[in-house]
Amino acid sequence: MQGFCGGANVTTVLIALAKALDLVGKGVFPRLRHGVEVAYTSLRICESVGSLSAVDSRELLWAALVHDTGVSSMAQRASLIEFEIENPFEHAERGARLLSIVPWLSGVSNLVAHHHDRYDGDNPGRARGQAIPLGSRIIHLADRLSILAHRVSNALIDKDVILGWLRSRASAVFDPSLVGALQSIAARTAFWLDLMSDDLEQHLLDIAPEDGPRLSLEDLEPVSRVYAEVIDDKSPFTRSHSAGVAAVADRLATMAGCDRSEVTLIKVSAFLHDLGKLGVPDEVLDKPGSLSPNEWASIWAHPYDSLRILRGVPVLHEVARWVSYHHERLDGSGYPFGAAADELDLGCRLICVSDVFQALNQARPYRAPMGDDEVARVMRGMVSSGHLDGSLVEMVLEDYGRFRSLAEQIS
Ligand SMILES: [Fe+2]
Ligand SMILES: [Fe+2]
Ligand SMILES: [Fe+2]
Repeated sequence: MQGFCGGANVTTVLIALAKALDLVGKGVFPRLRHGVEVAYTSLRICESVGSLSAVDSRELLWAALVHDTGVSSMAQRASLIEFEIENPFEHAERGARLLSIVPWLSGVSNLVAHHHDRYDGDNPGRARGQAIPLGSRIIHLADRLSILAHRVSNALIDKDVILGWLRSRASAVFDPSLVGALQSIAARTAFWLDLMSDDLEQHLLDIAPEDGPRLSLEDLEPVSRVYAEVIDDKSPFTRSHSAGVAAVADRLATMAGCDRSEVTLIKVSAFLHDLGKLGVPDEVLDKPGSLSPNEWASIWAHPYDSLRILRGVPVLHEVARWVSYHHERLDGSGYPFGAAADELDLGCRLICVSDVFQALNQARPYRAPMGDDEVARVMRGMVSSGHLDGSLVEMVLEDYGRFRSLAEQIS
């Protein structure tokens, strides 16, 4: 194992999580890069109003990237996008609650909590006007601009339609002074070209405030735990699955002789192993019957999508590999890479075994949770057919009761 050295850049980690959240909306707007778009517009507004300190503008950037952490299901994402949801505050509160678990995101959590607050105060918390955090007011406006820009055929050509919609809600929904600032930013053609560009991420990084202290592996663990909950909440059948896989992998890695930092790296990987599942339609995850070829295609893509997202974070390359190999099998029959035994190191094998063990102990739409004997029979069968590592499987089965309670934990 190569470990984790040098620490992680916060903005890069949060851009990766923003891309994971975009998977939830890809069925509605395939080109939506919502977190990055909202972050870019927010920073432009912030530059224009000039009243945020360097630290505040950094928190604004981070909050804008992950402001929709509270949205796990495609149905909910679609209704938010279409302005049809009755209660936009619920996902804001949920996202804020999840992010508050991460010590270095506590300021971000407060901005996320208020990112749909109306300026006139018709909000559950009754905050109104300038009492709503400035960062939240900026994100609210940038958020609606991002969505509107995807509802027209060309945002540059149709910018007056977009700005007219936002202007008509100034004072009631949006801070009128921020709408004014946005009007002058939007008068520049380059703003729209940046926003629609394939290089938007680079444009964002060009104007981003300096990053904070780099994140250690210990800093990454709570945020990966939070995203495990976002992933697992997509379906009632997978609730606590990733947390259970992480708990099993933690114990198994320790028993297999990994040192503390290797165990933490494996745990982070286990929390994030199904990140790409955010892009699998809800009805596929909940389907009681057999899947159609198209539905299988979306399942096969999920470890690949996890890799695509995580490889944008340089220090997470090992996490990205373990995550993307969690459906590979030692005989080369797994997906999506068909990697065989010599490519599957201890980290991959640990996560594969932990994933299978947790899944067999949990109900799926097409079967009840398996009993102990059946789990043991199925797992030993997967060892004899060349799928799973026999020594790791025996470690789990020899201490079955303890591993089952780890697998069943509620995150
Ligand atoms: Fe939102
Ligand atoms: Fe949003
Ligand atoms: Fe998976």
